[in-house]
Amino acid sequence: MRIILCDNYEELSKKAAKLVASQITLKPDSVLGLATGSTPVGMYGKLADMCNSGELDFSEVKTFNLDEYYPIKKTNNQSYDYFMRENLFSKINIRDENIHIPNGEADDPEKECADYEKKIRESGGIDLQVLGIGRNGHIGFNEPDASLNSFTHLTKLTENTIKANSRFFRSADEVPRQALTMGIATILNAKKIVLLASGANKRKVVSELIGGGINTSVPATMLKTHPDVVLICDRESYSGARLGIDIGGTNIKTAIIDSDNTVVYKGEFKTGNTENEIITGIVETVAALRGSFDITTVGIGTPGIIKDGKVTAANLPFKGTPLESLIEEKTGLSVTVDNDANCAALGEVVFGNTKDCENIVLITLGTGVGGGIIMNRQILRSNNNMGEIGHFVIRAKNGRPCKCGQSGCWEQYCSMTAFTRDAKAMAKKNPDSILFGLMKDGTLTGEDIFNAMDSGCEVAKKVFDDYIRYLAIGINSLVNIFGPDAIVLAGGVTRQGEKLLEPLRQLIKSDVRIEISNLQNDAGALGAAML
Ligand code: PGA
Repeated sequence: MRIILCDNYEELSKKAAKLVASQITLKPDSVLGLATGSTPVGMYGKLADMCNSGELDFSEVKTFNLDEYYPIKKTNNQSYDYFMRENLFSKINIRDENIHIPNGEADDPEKECADYEKKIRESGGIDLQVLGIGRNGHIGFNEPDASLNSFTHLTKLTENTIKANSRFFRSADEVPRQALTMGIATILNAKKIVLLASGANKRKVVSELIGGGINTSVPATMLKTHPDVVLICDRESYSGARLGIDIGGTNIKTAIIDSDNTVVYKGEFKTGNTENEIITGIVETVAALRGSFDITTVGIGTPGIIKDGKVTAANLPFKGTPLESLIEEKTGLSVTVDNDANCAALGEVVFGNTKDCENIVLITLGTGVGGGIIMNRQILRSNNNMGEIGHFVIRAKNGRPCKCGQSGCWEQYCSMTAFTRDAKAMAKKNPDSILFGLMKDGTLTGEDIFNAMDSGCEVAKKVFDDYIRYLAIGINSLVNIFGPDAIVLAGGVTRQGEKLLEPLRQLIKSDVRIEISNLQNDAGALGAAML
């Protein structure tokens, strides 16, 4: 189950409408499964607006509603038939014969249910099913029970639902005691499902849905057996804490974010030596943290390449490791895995000093050069290892060979490894220099280079000038390609602050903001929590 967390109901309605609209755009004769209740009202309003502005065409769309009270007259303003016409059908160009709602006036409800099921099948099946969720976990009128019905059927409403729905009637006595509803199998047969949840009164059930197992006492948890479900919820309905895990070569960092985006915990533990040790370490940490926090989702950042959910990393014992499904299986929580640099970039745009930006490029200057790209506050990603910004070629002729197989890669000039290696080579060529004097056991640190410059060392200054020139070439290219609002730099060398930024800014062609990360190594776990 994929979770889209929205700031408020307005955003939830927009996102849900967009999802339905894309379905119709891709397949104009889509079969939609629709829901009633207060939650989808905003989404229906947006869909109607899109239709009226000519953006969306419902003329070929077929709809099947989830449920209807029984018995109830269509003209009753509490019938779902009335609701749908009022909130959607009267406002869009759908054809009347394409609208299907279980008939609350049917004399023979059993026959009505069987016919309804048949009509769904004959239409080719539901492409996209929209669902709300009841406070007791019902979907449609599939109420909590020891066993659940598969197909469209007549059912009794629980006291809980009668009470919840009485707000629409003059009194609870007027709420019909029965309903016709699609069954769990009818719903699960849909190709794609979008479940909407909004408001604080859904907190408990949303947390049961995300964090709990599959259980007929919370019928919505059946959705976890479906391969394509999106839960769109707002912050009011989502109480759980999100755990972020950033796997590094030496340590694994963790962070917990609560539903108000407050960081409530930070920790770390040693990275295991084998795949099994790493997985066990993560699973045990998750279990321990669950003792103190109501964790509902886990995000994991890992180095390496992630393809089809499998991780392969050069510096970790991961070779096609299905990290996401393994941790999900062992914790029962919803887990998302992404590249660690992507997570760090997400951490920067949510929690860092660029949180006011929509689009950023994070550049980490460490052993190599890495980074992540955020566009519209989302990670820019593909299934093909994108964003390897350390490996675009900045020097085509006589470029330094890179372990990736190319020559002249940016990281061969701008990583800390390259910076200190160049300094060492220059120092050796100039044994009279201050820089040479700072060498210990034949090595130099980044700090030595800056200290030498501070003491007026021309050799160190030359090394630094070359470094900054190459850094600027790369940044200018990234700015040309992505047009970010800000470039964020991270890594040990950025501790130098203005000593690094001031000369760099002079070589940057645009007025893009250049920032030094205020999160540094914490960004990965924070971003992972937000995946
Ligand atoms: P609601 O109802 O959208 O009005 O909360 C949802 C449901 O009961 O399924």
